[in-house]
Amino acid sequence: MTSQPNSAARPAQPVVVSRYDEVRALLADPALTVPAVPRPPFSLTVAWLRGAVGRFADGPVHAARRAASVGVLAGLDERALRAEAFRRAAGHPGPELVPVEVLAVALGVRAEDGARAARAVAALAPAYLPPATPPSPVASPVQAAPDDAAADAGLAELSRLLGDPEPERLAVLAGLLAQACAATADLVRNALAADAGPCPVEDLLAETLRHDPPVRTLRRVAVRQAAGGVPAGTTVLLDVAAANRDPHVFDDPDRFRPGRSPRHLTFGAGPRPCPAERIALALAAGVVEAIRR
Ligand code: HEM
Repeated sequence: MTSQPNSAARPAQPVVVSRYDEVRALLADPALTVPAVPRPPFSLTVAWLRGAVGRFADGPVHAARRAASVGVLAGLDERALRAEAFRRAAGHPGPELVPVEVLAVALGVRAEDGARAARAVAALAPAYLPPATPPSPVASPVQAAPDDAAADAGLAELSRLLGDPEPERLAVLAGLLAQACAATADLVRNALAADAGPCPVEDLLAETLRHDPPVRTLRRVAVRQAAGGVPAGTTVLLDVAAANRDPHVFDDPDRFRPGRSPRHLTFGAGPRPCPAERIALALAAGVVEAIRR
């Protein structure tokens, strides 16, 4: 296991895991959990949102909130999302937020308010997401340092554009949009920047997700001894970006080669993988196709 062991003299450092098989095994290990974020009383703040979504909950609370998100996602039509992303991205000077714009409209924002909703989500997303560890090597406007006042204003604006739904529904919709925002923007940006030559958009996206993953690390805490002898209480950083270039799994891993087997771990694994992989791919494909045309 690639690790930085804890020392009694220093504050505990996370154990970093970067081998593909170990990252995948630990993602499936129920001994590793996501520490629950406390839920304050309802207010239009990102602190409330973080406490109300599944992503930062564990156990049965996570399961129930995840199910609510999955229920909403099941009502979305991927082909329609892809076509709408294509339509909105064509000729767009900065198409990275088109996926979240299209998603916002599919979730109930009026079509003419889609771009406004996307800006509101981009304002709240940096305060919603845990900071990237280590920071992403690719500068991303939607992973800027959080501005809490701007983030809370973004949530208030988004709630208004969604028709001020009751809090449980708002948490599901705003959580989906916040999860989607930076990840789809980075996927679009990285795919368009890749020096890929002509290839099917699906292959381009799959290899971008492996080679330049928008989500680079996942953080967990061991509630009891975990696979590989990780002791209880340890914070574990699962280095997805490194695992995606594990030479034991990927031939010539640093080479960008669309068409190779898409076995990356960028959408997570185990009990809490991304529930929106197909939606994310449909949105990004529509945008990238429109720009590459
Ligand atoms: C390229 C785009 C995306 C990537 C790479 C990505 C990746 C991920 C990953 C790795 C996780 C798991 C986090 C963990 O294990 O701690 C996750 C969770 C999640 N993602 Fe995505 N995601 C993407 C797009 C989206 C989109 C478009 C949506 C919504 C439509 C979405 C909704 C969610 C939700 C709700 C969760 C939390 C799941 C849970 O609580 O169990 N994601 N995503």
